[in-house]
Amino acid sequence: MKLKVGIIGLGYLGATTAVAFAKLGHEVIGIDSDSAKIAILESGRVPFYEPGLDEALVEVLAQGNIRFQTTQDANSGSADIHLLCVGTPQSKTGLGADTSYLFAALDSLAPFLLEDSVIAGKSTVPVGTAKELKAHLAQKVDFEPHFAWNPEFLREGTALQDTLLPDRIVLGTDDSWSEKMLRLLYEPITDLGVPLVSIDIPTAELVKVAANSFLATKISFINAMAEVAEVAGADAVKLAEAIGYDERIGNKFLKTGIGFGGGCLPKDIRAFSARAEELGVGHAVGFLREVEEINLRRRTRVIELAREELGSLNGKRVVMLGAAFKPETDDVRDSPAMAVAEQFWSAGANVVIHDPKALENVRRMYPHLETNDNLFDAMDGADLVVLATEWREYRDADPIQLAKLVTNRLVIDGRNALDVGDWRAANWQVLALGRNLERLPVLA
Ligand code: UDX
Repeated sequence: MKLKVGIIGLGYLGATTAVAFAKLGHEVIGIDSDSAKIAILESGRVPFYEPGLDEALVEVLAQGNIRFQTTQDANSGSADIHLLCVGTPQSKTGLGADTSYLFAALDSLAPFLLEDSVIAGKSTVPVGTAKELKAHLAQKVDFEPHFAWNPEFLREGTALQDTLLPDRIVLGTDDSWSEKMLRLLYEPITDLGVPLVSIDIPTAELVKVAANSFLATKISFINAMAEVAEVAGADAVKLAEAIGYDERIGNKFLKTGIGFGGGCLPKDIRAFSARAEELGVGHAVGFLREVEEINLRRRTRVIELAREELGSLNGKRVVMLGAAFKPETDDVRDSPAMAVAEQFWSAGANVVIHDPKALENVRRMYPHLETNDNLFDAMDGADLVVLATEWREYRDADPIQLAKLVTNRLVIDGRNALDVGDWRAANWQVLALGRNLERLPVLA
């Protein structure tokens, strides 16, 4: 059944959700106060790099299933379902989440909201936020609003696919009509066999932060093993492979390296800790502090390794391969690659950054750092090369060709993504986090 859906906030989450629901045949109205963003979307592009999303947007624009506007009006207010997709960044004053954009979104919607519509939050929030939002909205309308929580688990780089074919759909509702409407919204997806978990609202809010905390913990677990492996002469990559065959552990999210970053995992675990403290159960998630500590230590370890090989880093030319927090995105928010680059810069190194997609964002957010769009020019005269984001371009690069450009054939593999045998065969000295490479056979 075709529903009219308002998508409020057109960042990564909102833009992807809007395109996905339009693709599923719903009538979508995307609302964002940023007129520049609206103009870009109307021209058939998304204002960030996400594989496949521009093409899908062009398709749904042509079909007439989607339109964009900067303010709410009677038409958008009459949507069957309003999905809140605004950002919940880390607060400027602490570790908690800033939920003010959600309250502002409701203030804009309230004058146009109709009684027989559902408002469902998708943004990641501290547990208890939905209750506060509903009470806030109830004061602005003369009926009891239908309020629900419907967390989203999309990953950057595979956002559209994750939205159209997710592992599961989570619906947090406190009335059967809202649940029925949201089930209709997702019918094209559940018809494909995707499981739907119907629960209460606080549980739905918690599911998202619990999932992200688990994922962050898994990464920090293997990175903690990497710390041990480095001093014990063991190999954390092989260790991950060996434990990952156990189905109870699984081999996903066990890649060891410079750790996790991005717009979600780091801020979500901090906000979860802050919320748990407020609820008087900070001790229950005390381990998340250690998860973050482990994550930050891996970045510093790259600088230590460089110093062990090069001595003082002052004036050394360090080439960073990658700036984005992971491949297939141009997002540099809380990027481990950028944190490492900054540490080299602070140590006096002459840092140059290459990335296939993210350099525009790097130049905007880190104007003091040198960037180079051409991989071969960037490599020229390098004393050290650091693989910080495992883009295919770097994994496929020919180490023989690159060796001719650098001053010193030294590479630190911060993502355990390079073919160590190939690089060593081309006479590179390869250092990798969590691995004792002296013990690895040279395959040349
Ligand atoms: C994450 C969650 O996966 C997603 O479900 C949620 O909706 C939003 O947050 P995303 O931020 O796109 O998605 O990135 P993700 O793929 O989870 O990677 C996060 C970080 O962990 C990246 O920096 C990545 O490089 C790192 N990572 C991931 C590792 O270091 N090792 C791994 O094994 C996996």
